[in-house]
Amino acid sequence: MFESIESPRELFTYQLGAALTMEKTVLDMLGRLKTAAQRTELKEQLRHHATETEQQIRNLEQALQAIGAEVDDKSCPAIEGIEKEGQALIKKADDGLVDAVILSGAADTEHHEISVYEGLITKAEAMGEQDIVALLQENLEQEQHTLDEVKRASQQLTQELARQQA
Ligand SMILES: [Fe+2]
Ligand SMILES: [Fe+2]
Repeated sequence: MFESIESPRELFTYQLGAALTMEKTVLDMLGRLKTAAQRTELKEQLRHHATETEQQIRNLEQALQAIGAEVDDKSCPAIEGIEKEGQALIKKADDGLVDAVILSGAADTEHHEISVYEGLITKAEAMGEQDIVALLQENLEQEQHTLDEVKRASQQLTQELARQQA
């Protein structure tokens, strides 16, 4: 259905709804990745971020309520694309490479989430919505922290895999 967006506030509200869809998709994705992951440590990291993601969903619902909008999901094809690429690659990859695939998909996801929250925070600040800024900031910090962890795990695993090949 076509929905016209006519003001910066409507645009912000629409994008908040899209972020809600993004996080719900990420939550499903994390569950599937946890099952696919080979290493216990990676399974634990994915489980921990799923718990954070549940809180992020609540923060976004609260932000939508604070702006007086319906808690309504908007479509978010970007995250569906990231998920599709990851799932296709998991199917193709040898068991020994599955964790490397998961970590690269996780890095793509976190980069995307960070860019979404940075954009939303800029808009919320411009509108003087400080309560909403605080909620979004909490989500952004969790994504940044997760990206750092993913990068560390990815470096470690890449070196491990390179040693196995040597
Ligand atoms: Fe998230
Ligand atoms: Fe995340």
